[in-house]
Amino acid sequence: MDQLNAEAIKGAAQTQLIGQEIDVQGEVDSTNAALLRRTRVGALEGTVVIAESQTAGQGRLGKPWFSPPGVNLYLSVLLKPPFHIHEAHVLTLMGSLAVADALEAQGVTAQVKWPNDVLVAGKKIAGVLSEVEAAEGHIGHLILGIGVNLNLERHTIDSLLGTEAARATSLQEVLGHGVDRNAFAGLLLEKLEAHYFAFQAKGRLPLLSEWRKRSFLGSRVSVRVEGIAKDIDDEGCLLVTLDDGSTMRIREGEVLPLPRTDSQK
Ligand code: BTN
Repeated sequence: MDQLNAEAIKGAAQTQLIGQEIDVQGEVDSTNAALLRRTRVGALEGTVVIAESQTAGQGRLGKPWFSPPGVNLYLSVLLKPPFHIHEAHVLTLMGSLAVADALEAQGVTAQVKWPNDVLVAGKKIAGVLSEVEAAEGHIGHLILGIGVNLNLERHTIDSLLGTEAARATSLQEVLGHGVDRNAFAGLLLEKLEAHYFAFQAKGRLPLLSEWRKRSFLGSRVSVRVEGIAKDIDDEGCLLVTLDDGSTMRIREGEVLPLPRTDSQK
């Protein structure tokens, strides 16, 4: 089992901002919560908290995030972008896009699924949970928490994830061998920074169009309603075309893929 190491991660990440300060923890409640505590006492933008395991790892919609020790990546990044609160959603999409890029650099084809999942061959390999604090309509800080299943074996996924196991995978399962977690973490920070800097320099539209290229848009889904996941809008909300031809804009929710219907074939 490899050990997380700040110097090894920094060595693998050619970055100027994200990961200049890396706090490696053994066990924490949640890396998002640990980074929020550091933010309250003045942590700088780009600070990263990464942990071997989490006792209270948080997923979206109040679900727990499965966080066994020594095998996966659980990391949180502090961003303080000079953006309107409406951009916060797009930063979550940026997190999943950076994970997909890092997987692609390992030779794996990855897809992003709105709003925060990364899938390989239709199974979830990573998720992003962003937590934002805003004042007067502007983002004060945003904590981007990312969990990636790296060196998990199939039997561990099956024994620990129960009914969710069939819809989950890991990089080890996909590649047939384990990966160096420090190297993967460094690569991920590098991809994140590249997107973050591009976002600041060119705005959100190029990022949104890259996200679209990697996404499952065009598939039939069920959110609160059933319809076709048509597009994302400029704020990163999902646009679903309903069967009556109208469009619904979804800001929050769990998206379930559905079988294709005759009209889609
Ligand atoms: C999801 O898909 O539901 C989001 C999962 C996000 C998990 C990561 S692991 C690192 C960070 N710390 C947490 O408690 N959650 C995020």
